Amino acid sequence: MSHSPSHSPQNSIEVRSLTKIYRSHVKQEGLAGSLKSFFKREYKERQAVKGVSFEIRQGELVGMLGANGAGKTTTLKMLSGLLTPTSGDAHVMGFVPWERSNDFKRQFAIVMGQRNQLWWDLPAADAFLLNKEIYRIPESDYRKRLQNLAERLNITDKLHVQVRRLSLGERMKCELIGSLLHAPRVLFLDEPTIGLDVIAQKAVRDFIREYNRESETTIILTSHYMSDIEELCERVIVIDDGAIKFDGALRDLVAGYVDEKIITIVLRDAAPKHELERFGTVTEWQPERAQIRAPRGQIAAIAASILSAHDVVDLTIEEVPIEEVIRKIL
Ligand SMILES: Nc1ncnc2c1ncn2[C@@H]1O[C@H](COP(=O)(O)OP(=O)(O)OP(=O)(O)O)[C@@H](O)[C@H]1O
Ligand SMILES: [Mg+2]
Repeated sequence: MSHSPSHSPQNSIEVRSLTKIYRSHVKQEGLAGSLKSFFKREYKERQAVKGVSFEIRQGELVGMLGANGAGKTTTLKMLSGLLTPTSGDAHVMGFVPWERSNDFKRQFAIVMGQRNQLWWDLPAADAFLLNKEIYRIPESDYRKRLQNLAERLNITDKLHVQVRRLSLGERMKCELIGSLLHAPRVLFLDEPTIGLDVIAQKAVRDFIREYNRESETTIILTSHYMSDIEELCERVIVIDDGAIKFDGALRDLVAGYVDEKIITIVLRDAAPKHELERFGTVTEWQPERAQIRAPRGQIAAIAASILSAHDVVDLTIEEVPIEEVIRKIL
């Protein structure tokens, strides 16, 4: 186990100037290009993470927010030991993750919403048994945890169904169980709600919140959905183009930068722009379709007045895009 001089036992995760540069081989086009590449390889460099530093205490649930390609997954992969950084250091529970010691692996887990860790052709229960062997989970702990997790996620009846036959939400619930059977002290959730329907999203969120409170597992959660972060995390780290732009209380971020929501309406009959302007700022207007921004606090009342004033075919209320929140911070 290697420790940095500043290593503090209260911190579950300590990250200092962590940097990752991906190098990928670029092949020139055509045969001439192939020959040229053969003799002189050209590399394209992409600095995905640029000197990131932060600390997370044991038991904290921290949200990591950032646009596509911001460097979230790359950061979590380094903290999981799946990637070695180009420079900088990190300690997770005192371990350097990319040294991949067995003691480290037994105490952490990563779930990636975009990637399946279970076996497609087998029921989840079979994959769990393998985890039991790999992590050497004692029989009684295993049974207790499996039963408890499955009940809380309301998935007990699906554990013996082939994974390929499960819905996306059911699969994610099984992924979560698989990652928690060995009771890790640190858990990384990379977009655990991506693509899930609203009900499954809520179930997964509620579970994560309660699990974090009860078990005091340290959790970093990334998401594209502002509402995931809103509902789960007091603290949020905003990462943009590989660098941290904000690290602090979510309420400060929201109060300072995101005071509006967006209402999109589709109307049966065209409405002139000035008529819609009394509801808020009209940011997009085609006679039958418009986007209106209005203060968060009044959004339900404003949506109700739109519905009563116009013949509305469809109405949705959304958060401002994360990209915009991030732009405001810069
Ligand atoms: N294996 C790789 N080789 C080269 N470049 C990569 C590789 N993986 C990621 N990148 C690049 O590094 C940058 C950061 O990617 P990363 O996946 O960490 O972003 P992210 O914040 O997780 O994005 P998303 O929200 O889309 O998941 C992107 O520009 C991406 O294209
Ligand atoms: Mg990602």
